[in-house]
Amino acid sequence: MRSEADSASGGEENSNESRINRIIEYIIKVAGGDYSVQLEVSDKNDEIDSLAVGFNMMAEDIKNNVENIKKDMDIQGVLNNILSLQIKDNSIEYILEYSLKQILSIAWLSLESKGAVFLVENENDTLVMKVQNGFSSSIQDICAEVKFGQCFCGRAALTGEVQFADCIDERHDVKYEGMNNHGHYCIPIVSSGRVLGVINTYLKIGHKLGEKEEQFLKAVADILAKIIENKNIEKEKEKLQEKLFQSEKMSAIGKLASGVAHEINNPLTVILGYSQIVLKRLKEDNEFYKPLKMIEKETVRSKILVEQLLQFSRMQKVVFIPFDLNKAVEEIIQIVISKCKVSNIELIPELDAGVGLISGSKNQIQQVITNLCNNAIDASNEGGKVWVRTKHFKDFALLEVEDKGSGISEEIKKQVFEPFFTTKEVGKGTGLGLSLSFEIIKKHGFEITLESEKNKGSKFMVKIPYSSLKNIC
Ligand SMILES: Nc1ncnc2c1ncn2[C@@H]1O[C@H](COP(=O)(O)OP(=O)(O)OP(=O)(O)O)[C@@H](O)[C@H]1O
Ligand SMILES: [Mg+2]
Repeated sequence: MRSEADSASGGEENSNESRINRIIEYIIKVAGGDYSVQLEVSDKNDEIDSLAVGFNMMAEDIKNNVENIKKDMDIQGVLNNILSLQIKDNSIEYILEYSLKQILSIAWLSLESKGAVFLVENENDTLVMKVQNGFSSSIQDICAEVKFGQCFCGRAALTGEVQFADCIDERHDVKYEGMNNHGHYCIPIVSSGRVLGVINTYLKIGHKLGEKEEQFLKAVADILAKIIENKNIEKEKEKLQEKLFQSEKMSAIGKLASGVAHEINNPLTVILGYSQIVLKRLKEDNEFYKPLKMIEKETVRSKILVEQLLQFSRMQKVVFIPFDLNKAVEEIIQIVISKCKVSNIELIPELDAGVGLISGSKNQIQQVITNLCNNAIDASNEGGKVWVRTKHFKDFALLEVEDKGSGISEEIKKQVFEPFFTTKEVGKGTGLGLSLSFEIIKKHGFEITLESEKNKGSKFMVKIPYSSLKNIC
C-alpha cells in the first residue's frame, strides 16, 4: 500500500512502504513454498534491512528443513517398502532387485542410478553379484565375482565397514576400458557379526559423504540382513523337514520289508528251485521251456527286490572300520566292468593316490559305487564313457561317478533319491538303488550330491570326511 507521501515523492521504489510491501510479497511466496526468492538488502542498513536479512536467513533455514523432511520421507517410504517385502513370500532375488531399485529411485542419493547387490558365497570368501542396475555387460562380467579384500566391495566385505569414495582411488582395484571417474558407497550387509553381502551404489565424482545417506543405506542393509537370515533359516528348516520325511519313509519301508520279506522269500526260493530243476530236464525246443525260463527270470528279479528291501531294515547301525577307498573302488569296478562290456561302455577309473584310508562299512560303500555305476551305464549310449574318481582334499575324500549320458531334468532331480522312483521300464529298475545309497551315505554321516543337466550327463559326488577316521583310530 502506498502512502500519499510516497506517491507525492514520485512513488520511489525505495520508499519504506514499498520496501515493506516487498517483504510482505516475499513472505507470501515463502509461505507458499517458494524458497528460491531472496530479499534485496539495501545499503541503508536500517531496521527494514535487518528485517530483510533475518527473513532471508529464516527462509534458508525453512528451505533446509523442508529438504531434510523430504529426504526423511523418501527414506521412510523406501524402508517401509522394503520392510513390507518380508510379509509376502518373495524370492531372495526379487527382494534384492526391488530393494536396489528402491535405493536408486532416490534422486538425491544415487546420482548415477547405478548399483548392485552382492551376496557372499564359496566358503565365505567371495561376493557374487546377484542383481545390478545400469551396469554395462563388461562390468557385469568383471564384477560377477569379487574376492574379499578386492576393490571397494571386497573391502567392505572383509572389514564389515562402509567404504565411501568420492572418486576412483587406489582402493578401486577393478579397471576397465572407458571407465569414467566416479565415487561409491559400498555397504556391508551384516548379521550377528557375519557379512552376508554388500550393497554397491555409484556416485557422481565429488559427491560428499552424507551422514543421512550413510545411515539410510545401513538401515536398508540391516533390513536385508534380517530378510536373508530368515530365508536361510527357512531353507534349513525345509531341508531338515525333507530329510525327516525321507527318514520316516525309509524306516517305514524297513519295517514293512522285514515283516514280509521272509514270508515272500521262502515261496520264491521254492518257485525258483523247482523251475530250475524242471528247466534242466527240458530241451530248449520244448513248448514249456520259454515260459519256465520267464518264471525263473522273474523270480530272480523278485528275490533281488526282496533282498534290496531287506537291506533297508538291516541298515540300523554302521560299524566303522578303516579301509582303503581306492582298493575298495578297484575291487568293485571289476564286477561292474562286466555290465559295461555288455553295453560297450568304457569304465575309466581316475584314482587319486593320496586318498588313503577312510572309515565306514566297506561293503555298503561298494554297494553305493555299484548303484551309481549301474545308473551311469544305463544312462549312457553305446560307446559312452563312465568315470569313477577319487579325490583327496585336506579334510575329506571325494568319490565321484560321472557319465555323459541322458542327464536328469530339474523336476526329476528332486525325486531320484525317493524310494521306488524310477524312469526305467518295468522289469529294468526297482527305483531303490539311489534311495538305498542315500540311506547308506546318511547313516555314515557322509554327504551325497548330484550335478546333472538334461542330455549332457550326470555327476554324483560323495563327500567322505576324514574326521570319521579320527573318531575311531
Ligand atoms: N546317472 C544317471 N543319469 C540319468 N538318470 C539317472 C542317473 N542316475 C539315476 N537316474 C534317474 O534316477 C532314477 C532312480 O534311480 P535309482 O537308482 O534309484 O533307481 P533305478 O536305477 O531306476 O532302479 P534300481 O537302481 O532300483 O534298479 C532312475 O530311474 C533314473 O531316472
Ligand atoms: Mg539304479
